[in-house]
Amino acid sequence: MVDDTDVLLKEKRIFKPNEIILGKAIIKDWEEEIEKGKDYVNYWADKAEQFTWFKKPEKTLDDSNKPFFKWYVGGKINLAYNAVDRWIETDKRNQVAILYVNERGEEEKLTYYELYRKVNKFANALKNLGVKKGDKVSVYLPMCPELIISLLACTKLGAIHSVVYSGLSVMALVERVNDAEAKILITSDGTYRRGKVIDLKNVADEAMLQCSSVETVIVVKHTGTSIQTSDLSGKEVFFDTLMEGEPAEFEAEEMDAEDTLFLLYTSGSTGKPKGVVHTTAGYMVGVATTLRNVFNIHDGDLWWCTADVGWITGHSYVIYGPLLLGSTTLVYEGAPDYPDPGAWWNIVEKYGVTKFYTAPTAIRHLMRYGKKYPKKYNLSSLKILGTVGEPINPEAWIWYHKNIGREQCPIMDTWWQTETGSYMISPLPVTPLKPGSATRSLPGIEADVVDRDGKPVPLGKGGHLVIKNPWPSMLRTLYKDEDRYINTYWKEIPGCVYAAGDIARKDEDGYFWIQGRSDDVLKIAGHRIGTSEVESAFVSHPAVAEAAVIGKSDPIKGEVIKAFLILREGYNLDTKLIEELKKHVRHELGPVAVLGAIKQVDSLPKTRSGKIMRRVLRARELGEDLGDTSTLEE
Ligand code: WTA
Repeated sequence: MVDDTDVLLKEKRIFKPNEIILGKAIIKDWEEEIEKGKDYVNYWADKAEQFTWFKKPEKTLDDSNKPFFKWYVGGKINLAYNAVDRWIETDKRNQVAILYVNERGEEEKLTYYELYRKVNKFANALKNLGVKKGDKVSVYLPMCPELIISLLACTKLGAIHSVVYSGLSVMALVERVNDAEAKILITSDGTYRRGKVIDLKNVADEAMLQCSSVETVIVVKHTGTSIQTSDLSGKEVFFDTLMEGEPAEFEAEEMDAEDTLFLLYTSGSTGKPKGVVHTTAGYMVGVATTLRNVFNIHDGDLWWCTADVGWITGHSYVIYGPLLLGSTTLVYEGAPDYPDPGAWWNIVEKYGVTKFYTAPTAIRHLMRYGKKYPKKYNLSSLKILGTVGEPINPEAWIWYHKNIGREQCPIMDTWWQTETGSYMISPLPVTPLKPGSATRSLPGIEADVVDRDGKPVPLGKGGHLVIKNPWPSMLRTLYKDEDRYINTYWKEIPGCVYAAGDIARKDEDGYFWIQGRSDDVLKIAGHRIGTSEVESAFVSHPAVAEAAVIGKSDPIKGEVIKAFLILREGYNLDTKLIEELKKHVRHELGPVAVLGAIKQVDSLPKTRSGKIMRRVLRARELGEDLGDTSTLEE
C-alpha cells in the first residue's frame, strides 16, 4: 500500500463539483446558507415546516434549563405518520419505499402503501400484547424488512425502541435490555453472513435467562431455519403469527415534540454503555434536513446507506431520513465481499443506485482486492458518494473517487455521532473538497476546536472538537443518568459547549480535520466499542484477573484490540488459552470485538485511585512520549 502521507503530499488538489452536480444542488450557495444558519433558531424553525404536525410548535427552542434543551416546544407530531402515512395520499403511494437485498441475491420490495399496511398490522399486534406509549421494546434483528416494520410500528404507537446490533452478543444484549427494562424483545432465527446462517435465537435465548423485564419475545422467521411453533417457549411468538388477521389501519399516536423516540446504547470510556436518548420532532428535522441537503435527495433517487440499523447511521440514514423524504432506501444484508468483492458494485449496477454512503473501513477492505472488481460494473448511475464513522485516509478517498465515483461524484465526508443524531460537519455537494477533511460545520451548526479552557486554538493546532450551539437532533440526556450526561458532554470544556470527545484541527480555510477520539473509545471497522466493555468480557473468563485494552492501528479496520492481561495463578498464556480467550470475548461481546494481540503482564499502569492508565500502555506500545505521569502509581 502507498503511504498516506505520500499521497497527501502529492494530492493537494481541491476537488470542485461539476456542472451536473451544481445544476441539481438543493443548496446552491454554500457560504450564503452558512450565513443564514447563523441565526440558528430561525433556521431550524423554518426546517420544521416540511412536516405534517398535529399541532404546530409554540416555541422553537427552550434553553432555560441548560444543558437540557427542548426543541419545538408544544408541538405534536408522529414520526411514522410523516415517514409513511403522509406519502400514501400522494403519487408516492405505489413507489418502492424499502428495497431489501441480501448477499444471496434475494430481494423484497415494499411500496409505501405495502409498508403502511404492515406497520399498521404490527402496531396493532404490539398493542394487543399490551405495549403502550412510553414502553420499551428491544430489537435484536439482522437487516431485514421486519426490522424496519418493527421500528416504525413502535414509533407509530409511541413505544420507545432500543436496537441492539446483531453483531453484539450475550453480555452486551443482556446489559442493554436490562438497562432499558424492555417489555418486549424482537429477534429472529438468524442472519446471513458470507454464505452462512448465523444463529441469533440462541444468543437471545441465553440472554433472556437474565432479562426478567421481558414479557414477550417475538421471533422473525428470517432465514427459515427449522424452528417450529412447538419449539417456542410460553412467552415466545412468531412475528407472522402475530400479524395474522390484524387490521391494516392504525391511528398514529400524537407524540409531544419532546417525547422520547428511541434509546440507542453507545460505548463510553468507562462503565456500562450509555443509553443515548433521542426525542421525536428535533430528530426528525435534523435527519431529514441533513440528508436532503448533503446528498441532494430528489424524486427518483435510489439511496443506499450500507450501515447496519444496529448503529445510529442505520437509524438516521437507512430508515428515518430517506423515508421522511419519501425516497427509496436500499437495505442490504450481508458482507461487502460475498460472494465476491464485486458484490456491492453489482448491486449498484443492477438497481441503479444513485447515492451511496459507506464507511472508510469498507472502502479500504474492497480497495485491497484491486480496481478490477468495480471495473466489471457500470457504475454510471452514481451521482454522490459519502463516508462516515472514522477519518478517511486520503489514499482511500482517492481510490473511492476514481474507481467508484469515476471522478464525477463528490464525496461527502460526514462527521457526526450517536449523540448528535444527524450530520454536524460535512460538505454539501457544491463544496470544494479536500480528501480527508469533513470540511465545515453544516448550516445551523457551529463547531470549533478549542483547548481545555474553551479557548479557540490557533489554526493548524490540535484541540478538542466542540459544538457551540444546541441543535434539534441532539441527544437530550443519557437514560436514567442525568449526571453522566452533564459530566460527559457539558463539563469537559467550560462555557456550556458540547464536547464531542474527538481531537481535531482546523486549517487556513476553516476546514476541520478530525484526528480521532480523545477518550478510551475504540473504533473497530467504524464500530464504536468501549475499552471497559472489552475488559469486562476478559475478566469474566476464569483465567483472567485483570485486563486493560487499547486500540492498535490496523490498515483495514482502522483499529483492532490489543489486550494486556494479568492471569490468575496456575494459568499460562499458551496458544490454547489465547484461542479460548478469543472465543470467550467473541461469545460475550460478538464479532465486532476484533482481537489483534493478547499479552500477559505482571502489572498494569494505574493511577493512585486505581484507574487503569491506558494512555501509558498506548504510549509504550507506540513508542511515544508518556506525557504527564505524575498521577501514576506503578
Ligand atoms: C468518529 C457514527 C472522522 C468520531 C456516526 C466520532 C468520524 C465517532 C467521522 C462517533 C468522520 C464519525 N470523520 N471521524 N466523518 N464520523 N467519526 O457514535 O470519532 O458510532 O466521535 O457515530 O466516530 O461514532 P458513532
